[in-house]
Amino acid sequence: MTMTVARAQKQEMMKNTNPEIEFKIDSLLQLMTVEEKVGQMNQYNGFWDVTGPAPEGGSAEKKYEHLRKGWVGSMLSVRGVKQVRAVQKIAVEETRLGIPLIIGFDVIHGYKTLSPIPLAEAASWDLEAIKNSASVAAAEASASGINWTFGPMMDISRDPRWGRVMEGAGEDAFLGSRIAEARVHGFQGDDLSAVHTVAACAKHFAAYGFSESGKEYNTVDIGASTLHNVVLPPFKAAVNAGVRTVMNSFNELNGVPVTGSSYLQRDILKGEWGFDGFVVSDWASINEMINWGHARDKREAAQKAVTAGSDMDMEGNVYIEALAQLVKDGVVEESLLDDAVRRILRVKYELGLFDDPYKYCDEAREKETIGNAKHHEAVLDMAKKSIVLLKNDTNLLPLKKEGQKIALIGALASDKSSPLGSWRIASDDDTAVSVLEGMQNYSGNSLTYAKGADVFVGQAQFIQEVVVNDADKSGFEEAISVAKNADVVVMVLGEQGFQTGEGRSRTNLQLPGVQQELLEAVFKVNPNVVLVLNNGRPLAISWADAHIPAIVEAWQLGTETGNAVAQVLYGDYNPSGKLPMTFPRNVGQVPIYYNFKNTGRPDDKDGNVFWSHFIDVEKTPLYPFGHGLSYSTFEYSDLKMDGTSFETGADIVVSVQVQNTSPVDGKEVVQLYIRDLVGSITRPVKELKGFELVELKAGETKSIRFKLNNESLGYYNNDGKFIVEPGDFKVFVGGSSITRLESDFELK
Ligand code: BGC
Repeated sequence: MTMTVARAQKQEMMKNTNPEIEFKIDSLLQLMTVEEKVGQMNQYNGFWDVTGPAPEGGSAEKKYEHLRKGWVGSMLSVRGVKQVRAVQKIAVEETRLGIPLIIGFDVIHGYKTLSPIPLAEAASWDLEAIKNSASVAAAEASASGINWTFGPMMDISRDPRWGRVMEGAGEDAFLGSRIAEARVHGFQGDDLSAVHTVAACAKHFAAYGFSESGKEYNTVDIGASTLHNVVLPPFKAAVNAGVRTVMNSFNELNGVPVTGSSYLQRDILKGEWGFDGFVVSDWASINEMINWGHARDKREAAQKAVTAGSDMDMEGNVYIEALAQLVKDGVVEESLLDDAVRRILRVKYELGLFDDPYKYCDEAREKETIGNAKHHEAVLDMAKKSIVLLKNDTNLLPLKKEGQKIALIGALASDKSSPLGSWRIASDDDTAVSVLEGMQNYSGNSLTYAKGADVFVGQAQFIQEVVVNDADKSGFEEAISVAKNADVVVMVLGEQGFQTGEGRSRTNLQLPGVQQELLEAVFKVNPNVVLVLNNGRPLAISWADAHIPAIVEAWQLGTETGNAVAQVLYGDYNPSGKLPMTFPRNVGQVPIYYNFKNTGRPDDKDGNVFWSHFIDVEKTPLYPFGHGLSYSTFEYSDLKMDGTSFETGADIVVSVQVQNTSPVDGKEVVQLYIRDLVGSITRPVKELKGFELVELKAGETKSIRFKLNNESLGYYNNDGKFIVEPGDFKVFVGGSSITRLESDFELK
């Protein structure tokens, strides 16, 4: 194993760097002791009140001491101008070299004013809106002293049991890549040194979303094809979009904890892709190599991680404890530290921290930026765009605005915290507009609310044990009587905000607790039910799909949740969201995703059991990837290609007519899929390769054009090499991954 960075790799990396910054880094590196270099690679969490008197004893005191010595390069979770200024002042004024800190924070879907959870945003397929949402988050966070976000998360996952699917963009690499780019551009803007932008972080590198059985922090064992074609593309897209940092992950990949993976971090990320920013570990993921059984002790963990290209140790205390000695003992070459520190300093220079370490510390800006009206407007816009109309069989929706008796049922309907999701560190409890409040803005109807049943019992945050309410049905009677007297019943059911997110894997994808019983009991007395789902992952709601006439997927939509939901229910906003993840019929179908392989026995040919299926449930999903209705209806026709046979490398144009066949203006996500019929590595039955969000006035028809090229038609083989193979292809276009129109062509 080589301990130095290969020269060619370094040359490639330096191509786009700024010579002035590199010169400054060279000079600074020459002044630094080994301990100071290790210090730059050390990140501490700053959860205590850093503006108070220095704590005595315990880890906070040690952190202060290290800060003063210049042994800390970054802090996370310090927030607010006052607090950031306090730690920055120590770094700049009390240390020997005065190198400023980079301040990181989990700005996942907003800072104080929260956007929908990232999975919900992905359902909008609206890249401009997603980019704008990230830039609003950056504006608020940077006004609060922060200059680096631990986002976007871009782990592709096909397993809704995994609680962190709420943080990503769903199951598809193509959609995930476009969203990763949009978020990176939103956070970083065009100019990283601008005061309203922050450095972004592509996480978690890599394959964390493939944790076996969806169980958190579990092993990952996937083949090269899945790694290169499904897992890595969003990261590559983020690097190409200029993301300045990458976070590695807690999982192992095929036997190697990724924090210690030279293959991922040195060969692919920093080598092949030429990434010249820095890699931060996930929280103590360097130490965790010991538990994984990949390192004997902290010393070996530090050695393996630094060799593999993990540049900064997040709150693991491993680098700070072991790295300097490893260099002195000649086990780790100092050039490895130089490479890591160079990367970290580069990002600090680019942020402009050396020009003005307090540039993010402006109280007046903090006051006027955080929670301002423009940000509320932006997150409301994003929230409406994230809603997916799953079903509307009897046109129960949109609701009439006058003369109706509406019953609103469900604990989540009046909850002002749950809609904020589980990543809400800088946001305050009870600050979301509840669905009840949103509905109350429509005064032409009479609205009666009944809780029905709690989702949770007791305190929800950081749950160690299951505290779901699976017993208390004392509110059923009231809910049933309110429902009986109503024209329409709106039921808000699903997951509490803390049932998804990190450490919240579930084996049951049904409505938690007694909510299913409540739904059935209410339906019995009044079938005019609109089910509004609040959740952070696909749920298995087969009963609801079979019985309930209208179902709205409203996820956890952030601060403006209630307004967004009410505007959609009342038709003031026509929904256009499409699912970024397949909804299963039951948990046994998981993992289930649209771009599966055909298998050798795809169909029932002879009426016997020997084909790829389940004997107790259909093999199709409940709602496919890309599905989502609107109050408008759309008709697709005239799928055309500009030929039937093309040379490899040619641009192939595909066009289709889309008509709004309804009297209501609306938007539709037009989706293009391909199938490569024969491959040296078997190809999926469908692959998304293009989409466009189209606005269509009532009755209007538009011609939509897509271009396919080598990038769309090729794939990575098992050596990680991108290849384009001649042969027959199919093209499909439609409003979901289940399409009606298709065409064929040959690639020569
Ligand atoms: C999570 C990361 C997060 C970090 C810092 C970890 O537990 O996996 O996604 O950025 O904590 O809060």
